[in-house]
Amino acid sequence: MVSEPPAAPARARVLVASNRGPVSYTLNDDHTLDARRGGGGLVSGLSAIGSDADSLWVCSALGAGDREAVRRGVGEPGVLMLDIDEAVHSDAYNGIANSVLWFVHHMLYQTPLEPVFDEDFRHQWRSYESYNRSFAQALADHAEDGAAVLVQDYHLALVPGMLRELRPDLRIGHFSHTPWAPVDYFRLLPDDIAEQLLRGLLGADRTCFLTRRWAEAFTACCTELLGHDALKGTRIGVHGLGADADFLRERAHRPDVEERITALREQIGSGRRTIVRVDRTELSKNIVRGLLAYRQLLRSRPEWREQVVHVAFAYPSRQDLAVYREYTAEVQRVADEINEEYGTDGWTPVVLHVRDDFARSLAAYRLADVALVNPIRDGMNLVAKEIPLVSDHGCALVLSREAGAYEELGEDSVTVNPYDVSGTADALHEALTMPDAERSHRCRRLAAAATALPPQRWFLDQLEALTS
Ligand code: F6P
Repeated sequence: MVSEPPAAPARARVLVASNRGPVSYTLNDDHTLDARRGGGGLVSGLSAIGSDADSLWVCSALGAGDREAVRRGVGEPGVLMLDIDEAVHSDAYNGIANSVLWFVHHMLYQTPLEPVFDEDFRHQWRSYESYNRSFAQALADHAEDGAAVLVQDYHLALVPGMLRELRPDLRIGHFSHTPWAPVDYFRLLPDDIAEQLLRGLLGADRTCFLTRRWAEAFTACCTELLGHDALKGTRIGVHGLGADADFLRERAHRPDVEERITALREQIGSGRRTIVRVDRTELSKNIVRGLLAYRQLLRSRPEWREQVVHVAFAYPSRQDLAVYREYTAEVQRVADEINEEYGTDGWTPVVLHVRDDFARSLAAYRLADVALVNPIRDGMNLVAKEIPLVSDHGCALVLSREAGAYEELGEDSVTVNPYDVSGTADALHEALTMPDAERSHRCRRLAAAATALPPQRWFLDQLEALTS
């Protein structure tokens, strides 16, 4: 339960801005509020600068609990939650960020019918501008002279440019956690919108990406659409966020994870191999083709029947959008179909869980013989880094060449084209039959590459580069 008033500093030396903040609130039936702190690279990265460092995290209220917390003046030290008008936020977040910008950078459109940039789109775009302006204003109001501001993601692409106008004294960085679209795909956007997005990011002193590939795609868009001089005032950075080894290894051996291992072992059955995937049910994660590849494996190599289980965790994401709800239903449908076609009394070919449970995810990581990470396109994909780090006996990694993590992990993975279902089935077979010695050798190398840039170093590197 929460009752403390917020203690945000009036002016901060280091500021972070993101749509989703490090804390969220739930409103209980008895009108009390529960606070829940989130995890992730940014949370542990920011902890690197210590609690006395005058930092401020500016984020948006997302649900009814968050809005109520803001209205009651409830909050956490170092966090400023903005109560942006609900309709404006919905247009900006669901309408533009998730339905347009996410689709462009992940190349998700079915182009014969979409996108359609009409009057509704223009209306939502105005909300996106206003939502970005609210962030820029809050950052301008709370930043000390010459402070460093680290703006996150496609939700806030206009903030660097807006903030630069309000506060030319600040050091402004922007980080894209997504891929960046190739020029021809980026050009699906109306010309003025494409230009506004690029100029928004170019308002930063440094604009950063997870891999060289996404950084190059961004610079190509800038030079093609704006000309060679456009990049003059902005440095481009690449910081490949790694997995948090200390945290994960310790957390993965706590009693709640051991309990989940026992339960999962029962569902899997003794002596069977496991193909593990853990994702948000996100369109870009390619869960359905992963299931189809597994079905193909059981079809074309019957020797695997009864011998392997696909442990697939697909946790809810963006359920306000119909296309996400439909995709979630399709994942469930295909998994059921495989279980009906091949399941026997003692063997469930696909063990699918859709309720988020971090301890159970870690349990699956530890049990993995094969990790399947086959996104259509992904900024990085930390799961590809985490499973090899945590797996008890060393796992083989089947990895999409379109994941950002491929740049660092490709050499020791079994590579797949995410659209090639037959190729993915072959890759699963190859991974399942990889000799033990080779599998553990590769897994050790994967774990080393996965931890090359831990979250705290990742954050400090950005900060140092921005302020030097
Ligand atoms: O994983 C890429 C990413 O852009 C993260 O940086 C960000 O937290 C997330 O996607 C946004 O997802 P959501 O819509 O669930 O907040």
